[in-house]
Amino acid sequence: MKFFIDTAEIDEIRSLAPSGLVDGVTTNPSLIAKSGRDFKEVIAEICDVIDGPVSAEVAATDSEAMIAEGKALAGIAGNVCIKLPLTFDGLVACRTLVDAGHETNVTLCFSANQALLAAKAGATYISPFIGRLDDMGIDGMDLIEEIRAIYDNYLFETQILAASIRTVNHVRASALAGADVATIPPSTLYALAKHPLTDKGLDAFLKDWAKTGQSIL
Ligand code: E4P
Repeated sequence: MKFFIDTAEIDEIRSLAPSGLVDGVTTNPSLIAKSGRDFKEVIAEICDVIDGPVSAEVAATDSEAMIAEGKALAGIAGNVCIKLPLTFDGLVACRTLVDAGHETNVTLCFSANQALLAAKAGATYISPFIGRLDDMGIDGMDLIEEIRAIYDNYLFETQILAASIRTVNHVRASALAGADVATIPPSTLYALAKHPLTDKGLDAFLKDWAKTGQSIL
């Protein structure tokens, strides 16, 4: 499973990059607004730090304008992945941009039928939003499972990018359901490494080690 980090904060990305755990980055207009920075400048900086795909989202809503914006975003760096909303216009733009050789991430997916359309439009990634479904009392994980089954039935190559991840359990369940990628907020990525028994065990080992009076170096 690939891990993307879901942030537009360049300092967070720089801190996480050396871990080798970051296969890509996703941003959205809300994350860009939160960063308070110039969109294209931030995307260029992220693309410089991370080798993998960096999702940058169009702001237009009609297909022609989405295509123009998508091409402009792709011109920032070779690893920009053009993010498009799952609207009919977004699907039209997706097909055109994919045929022109660009990577696309079709976002704001909330149903299996939407995901089926995105695969037929040739999307590189489909982003089902787990957390926002959970917020409405609908189990977001059911959607990941349905998309996995549909894509496997027809051997679609579109990768399932589990998005709107809020908890470590979302990551675990996405992995079990066969999502290809999870895009994870940095705080959740750090939390994945934590376990109270690890902390307790390490504490005991360090105390015992101190008793030996030895040093490794
Ligand atoms: C990523 O591509 C999405 O934009 C992001 O995961 C949305 O997360 P949210 O529902 O927590 O805003």
